[in-house]
Amino acid sequence: MIDLRSDTVTKPSEEMLDFMKGSQLGDDVYGEDPTVNELQEYVANLFGKEAALFVPTGTMSNQVSLGILTNPGEEVIADANAHIFIYENGAPSRWFGIQIMPIPSEDGAMPIEKIEQAIRPDVYYLPKTTVIELENTHNRHGGTILSLDYIKSVHELAKKNNIQMHLDGARIWNAHVATKTPLSEYGKYFDTVNVCFSKGLGAPVGSMVLSSRENIKKAWKIRKTLGGGMRQVGVLAAAAKFALVNNLHKLIDDHKKAVAFSLLMQKSGLFHIDEAKVQTNIVMVDLLHPIDMTIYVAELKNQGLLINAISKSRLRAVFHLNNSMHDASEAANIMTQVAKTYIDKLN
Ligand SMILES: Cc1ncc(COP(=O)(O)O)c(C=O)c1O
Repeated sequence: MIDLRSDTVTKPSEEMLDFMKGSQLGDDVYGEDPTVNELQEYVANLFGKEAALFVPTGTMSNQVSLGILTNPGEEVIADANAHIFIYENGAPSRWFGIQIMPIPSEDGAMPIEKIEQAIRPDVYYLPKTTVIELENTHNRHGGTILSLDYIKSVHELAKKNNIQMHLDGARIWNAHVATKTPLSEYGKYFDTVNVCFSKGLGAPVGSMVLSSRENIKKAWKIRKTLGGGMRQVGVLAAAAKFALVNNLHKLIDDHKKAVAFSLLMQKSGLFHIDEAKVQTNIVMVDLLHPIDMTIYVAELKNQGLLINAISKSRLRAVFHLNNSMHDASEAANIMTQVAKTYIDKLN
């Protein structure tokens, strides 16, 4: 079975499992797990941050970050398709009493003038704009990359208005390998950063909040409140370290698979793909013909391809460590054949 549903579906390799077995463990709620402590220091250093905190998921990492930066009643500016807005069950309002101000964009880069317009004036009856959140790469926009120039412009605007910045960097690794921008450069422009080890890097579990020492002290309290204090979790931190050291450079192969897949799909004339947006490991595929998406996805599965539909006419293909270049072309073949058969039946 070829699985293009997400880059979260990878399974740990034998080498990763061996590395995990050999890890030194302690109770991390006491801060005594040496493997976790080492990973926190290692990743904080990569991004030029003072400190870090290991958490179970990217969702928790984003939420802990927002909890650090805000007070109840405040507002966070984010892209209208941001993960924190769409896919986190309203957690910002639920846990921290804050709201998101969503701004539509083409590719995750909210227009600067729209951000500026969205910043609330300092009036007693308006919520205070406390944070601007960026997502890089951007999941729902199809793995698009935010340029460093764009990030700098947003940062400049934020600082001028005394607003903090959060980066949802679940896939910042993909942006890093695609653009060769040092991770420490990304780190400079954000007060808090979420990174995930369980996406393209291929670890089974784990994310991290990166920030100042003072903010990470707050993060410890929020993580505990959310139920994210884990015990001998070095066994998972070891997987994350293994993934970083061994798999980071392999992400570029996933980007190549995405391009190869897109080219084949375009050739068929049955799908539309915005090629300019095929920048990393995610490809958004639009159906050009009226095909029932539920039937289509079910038939793809029958033919050996797992893929998610994100609307009635759009599918999302995600390339990762556990699929090959051959899988990428085979997936395009299956998608084309199944679509052709469906259309032929209609005619
Ligand atoms: C951009 C982005 N942020 C955050 C998350 C949340 O990660 P998790 O599933 O570990 O909670 C995801 C998950 O896919 C994501 O794509």
